Amino acid sequence: MQAKSNEEWIWWKHGVIYEIFPKSFYDSNADGTGDIPGIIQKLDYLSSLGIDAIWLTPVYKSPMHDFGYDVSNYREIDPAFGTLNDFKILLNKAHSRNIRIIMDMVMNHTSHLHSWFVESRSSLNNPKRNWYIWKDGIKNKPPNNWSSSWGGSAWEWDETTGQYYFHSCLKEQPDLNWHNPELIDAFFEEIRFWLEMGVDGFRLDVINWIIKDKKFRNNPLISRIFRIQKHLYDRNRSRSHKIVKKFRRMLDEYDNRMAVGEVFSLPPGDAKLSASYLGAGDELNLAFDFSLMYRPWNARLIYQCIKKWYRLMPEKGWPCFVLSSHDYPRTVSRFGVFNRADRYKRAKVAAVLLLSLKGTPFLYYGEEIGMRNVNLKRNEISDPLGRRFWPFYKGRQPARAPMQWSPESNAGFTTAPLTWMKLNNDYRKINVQSQLEDRDSLFNLYRNLIGIRKNCPALYSGNFEPVKKGKAGVLAFYRLHDDKEKVFVVLNFTSGTKIIHVKNKDYWKVMISTHRTKDASLIIHELILAPYEATILRQI
Ligand code: NOJ
Repeated sequence: MQAKSNEEWIWWKHGVIYEIFPKSFYDSNADGTGDIPGIIQKLDYLSSLGIDAIWLTPVYKSPMHDFGYDVSNYREIDPAFGTLNDFKILLNKAHSRNIRIIMDMVMNHTSHLHSWFVESRSSLNNPKRNWYIWKDGIKNKPPNNWSSSWGGSAWEWDETTGQYYFHSCLKEQPDLNWHNPELIDAFFEEIRFWLEMGVDGFRLDVINWIIKDKKFRNNPLISRIFRIQKHLYDRNRSRSHKIVKKFRRMLDEYDNRMAVGEVFSLPPGDAKLSASYLGAGDELNLAFDFSLMYRPWNARLIYQCIKKWYRLMPEKGWPCFVLSSHDYPRTVSRFGVFNRADRYKRAKVAAVLLLSLKGTPFLYYGEEIGMRNVNLKRNEISDPLGRRFWPFYKGRQPARAPMQWSPESNAGFTTAPLTWMKLNNDYRKINVQSQLEDRDSLFNLYRNLIGIRKNCPALYSGNFEPVKKGKAGVLAFYRLHDDKEKVFVVLNFTSGTKIIHVKNKDYWKVMISTHRTKDASLIIHELILAPYEATILRQI
């Protein structure tokens, strides 16, 4: 693989990672569903956007009770997405464009159809019985009060052997027993399979859930009426760090690989918990902190969140930032909840924020063109979470709609008459083709930001020094690379004009701006900001 000219450049730290939900990216075989050959066909697009790595949500063999997060074979590709050979071609072609591939690794649970579980449930003394979590009930009731994240008890009665098995998510997703050394070894072999093939990294699904209390103590209740519990004994157990360390040792046997963990927490987020999974540089390379994703459009709250994340970073840790994903509402919809008129202006400010912070940016497919959540009716939802909690919560599917490539039929996503799920009805206006042609589009802003960041050490690795901390809706900060390079980022989160004063008499040049001419020079001690202006300046 081609190396970057700058030796200090580390792809997962300094590059931009792009999340693809393959079912919705591009359909190559006209069946209405996105697939791996479809991603291959769009590699040039991704190259032109400038991203450095793709994180693929699961493409393994799966009965798809949870969109592939229920894996029935970790070494096979699901036919809906293509073949193992297609995957190898993707890996090769991506590498030849200097794009890395990160796979989703679901360690907490498998599918109930995985051969390990089929064996495990077949008899009480099956050799794989203890690869999963089995328990006797108490007086015809589940062994304890642990609840599933999908509602109801996390224990499922199994008729054949007369015991319950544990599932943090759906009953079709039995949890593995990570206390069992045999399971650990077997699972690590599955991971090695991909490492040997040359996969560059993994996103570890709910990694903070993998270990459960050995004594199976009841979780304390937060609310008796709503039966809400604190997941004290079935999540965030300290022993999970041991597994992560072991995983990291394996990863480090290979060159230049990485792991980013989904450290799951409910709103308002838990930066401390996420940071703990970075260890002393001996656990995960990156960990998601969802706090930013849980914040509304408020400069002060967003700043506090960023500050906290930096403060908690261990010495050898590295931050990363994410504004949307396959599990959460899209940025445009989220930041436009109380102000639809301004949502695209806000999306631009958000883009500049994401690409100018210190920390690896993760971009969710379609975010670069401002795709928004799709409005779905009950019968259009296949996400089990949405089906279960309708109409209070429509689940995650609204953020998983087919990519909007062009104004043509089905947004150019497929030539099939029907797409696997409803398209966003704004696709004639919001799509890649139209935005490529428009200099001021969100796409071009993202592309330029990524390009600028890549060539600017202050932006991809420099220190963060706050100047305006969100008061009155303005966020401003320096990014500093030794004494060599100084960058100033200023973001107006409001629809009003703002004047800011900065103690600085130097001269600056516009690197990129939503409102100013590129390369214009100025002094910044008094800056008049247009509504929703986002500007990055470089000291000259
Ligand atoms: C987190 C994944 O992102 C989500 O989509 C999935 O449903 C759960 N983990 C269970 O695997």
